[in-house]
Amino acid sequence: MRVLVIGSGGREHALAWRLAQSASVTHVISAPGSDALRGVGRCFDVDVTDHGAVGALCDQQGVGLVVIGPEAPLVDGLADSLRALGLPVVGPGAAAAQLEGSKAYAKALMDRCGIPTAAFSVHESLEEALQALRDGEGPIVVKADGLAAGKGVTVAPDRATAELAVRECFEGRFGRAGARVVLEECLEGTELSFIALCDGRRILPLASSQDHKRLGEGDQGPNTGGMGAFSPSPLCDDRLQARILSEVMEPVVQSMAAAGEPFIGFLYAGIMVGSDGTPRVLEFNVRCGDPETQVLMHRFRGDFGRWLLAAARGQLDTVAHETDQVWDSQAAVGVVFASHSYPSGSRKGDVIQGVDNADEAAGVTVFHAGTRAGQEGWETNGGRVLCVSALGIDLQDAAKRAYEAVGKIHFDGMQWRGDIGRQGV
Ligand code: AMP
Ligand code: GLY
Repeated sequence: MRVLVIGSGGREHALAWRLAQSASVTHVISAPGSDALRGVGRCFDVDVTDHGAVGALCDQQGVGLVVIGPEAPLVDGLADSLRALGLPVVGPGAAAAQLEGSKAYAKALMDRCGIPTAAFSVHESLEEALQALRDGEGPIVVKADGLAAGKGVTVAPDRATAELAVRECFEGRFGRAGARVVLEECLEGTELSFIALCDGRRILPLASSQDHKRLGEGDQGPNTGGMGAFSPSPLCDDRLQARILSEVMEPVVQSMAAAGEPFIGFLYAGIMVGSDGTPRVLEFNVRCGDPETQVLMHRFRGDFGRWLLAAARGQLDTVAHETDQVWDSQAAVGVVFASHSYPSGSRKGDVIQGVDNADEAAGVTVFHAGTRAGQEGWETNGGRVLCVSALGIDLQDAAKRAYEAVGKIHFDGMQWRGDIGRQGV
């Protein structure tokens, strides 16, 4: 089988890397891909908003499965266009992708289905939102409704910060994504990434993982796309997993199927687990997490191509019995390197030293996110640059190995957290 991976980031590098090692897969190609993805298979510089061009590429290359990595092409309906051509696709159609594309849509669905989440209100005008802020109490979370590359959420400790965030949304900081604003009760607890593969009806949870959203150690500083991840999460025992499946995932998948918009692809619930063990949904994503995917792929030992094809064809029952065997019993810890000035900006062109050296260490794999091949080797080419993932007998051992490899890499302006995985130990 020839598989096309849509995207160019760290998540796609990890997906393509694992797919290329699947017995069922002969070739992995990418669009648009990256210099690092070229190490896995051919990359095609196709504009993925041109659905006709992507379809033509599939035809020309004899593609038997398409995996769409990022949210933007999903919200844009690429999965619908490719399915209309008869292609098996991993990724929901535009209607189901609204779960991530509009936070107001996701909240309304959670309300209808009785899914536990923070209390909220939705506002279409600045005056209305400011009035709601004046009426409320305590810390509040301000969210731009639409896609904002992980930057549309402000957890405001006080009214003034919340008001500023609301004003920024309506003043166009996030373009159309901020024309509607969701205000939410601030939840406390530990965040868990719950990611499952869905075939429209069935749900196959991947191994558990946790992300580190804040830029700084000890969860300080601004929110980012994710500064590191680990798997498994000791927080997610069988009981919690069963609760999340029955209280969150099943209602969503059933509601989508009933609406004639079956959810095929990766459904990601960002969950806040309260001190009493209650899971509440922070957000849904309609794709794999980044950098969670890097550590999950590192641990996956089965034929990932076969799993994904089964999901795309509505036949997850054919692989469900493998879930107990495919996850390596070792833990994985992935440390993200970000570039100078991330997340407010991202400096490009800094030469990166030591990548190969780190990659050669036992149990270590370096996944590339924002890199490019320059005259002197790898250079930075985006906000999040690399994810150094290591396997170890437990989280502590994996973290030790990951940080030994991290120490071999250097570039000007590099930022990384020294405490990835500590929360799980
Ligand atoms: P989201 O994109 O909605 O997941 O928000 C990004 C991050 O903001 C989450 O991963 C949490 O760290 C934080 N966050 C979002 N919603 C809330 C909430 N209601 N209470 C506390 N933190 C939140
Ligand atoms: N790591 C969080 C996300 O992918 O949204």
